[in-house]
Amino acid sequence: MGMEECEIIHDNRPFDKRRLIRSALDAREYAYAPYSHFTVGAALLTADGEIFTGVNIENASYGAANCAERTAIFKAVSEGRKCFKAIAIAGGDEKGKPLTYAYPCGICRQVMSEFCDDSFVILAARDEDDYVEMKLSELLPYGFKLCSLSSENGFDGRNGNED
Ligand code: THU
Repeated sequence: MGMEECEIIHDNRPFDKRRLIRSALDAREYAYAPYSHFTVGAALLTADGEIFTGVNIENASYGAANCAERTAIFKAVSEGRKCFKAIAIAGGDEKGKPLTYAYPCGICRQVMSEFCDDSFVILAARDEDDYVEMKLSELLPYGFKLCSLSSENGFDGRNGNED
């Protein structure tokens, strides 16, 4: 399971948004975007205060591209972290300035919903002082969820959206 294991998922204490945004901006340097030339950096803050960065990684087979947000989330989950407080995203044309607001794509919103509840803060940033702050419920209303796929866990066929 994802966020169900988080003990402090409703931790709404403030965090350093400028630092998280700076990490996303810096991460952009490692984006691999030879096809779109749109480079994206993401910085994911865990409940323990760690930051996992990610970049978009494109592929000659275009559909194999991975977004910066998912790279950061998958890095963190693959190292045992599943409780997240916030993510900052910074994206724009490789050569162009200023940056645009890079809002998460639909697949990334779905991946966020696997691990994050509505206390999760999403920052689409152009710089440390210019960002849009969002919640998952704004970006993914009526998102798809499964309670559990395991009958051992008492899965009753409901998908968690009925209530
Ligand atoms: N991209 C991201 O990495 N994150 C977003 O929020 C939007 C889009 C990437 C995917 C692709 O490599 C490039 O930006 C252009 O779509």
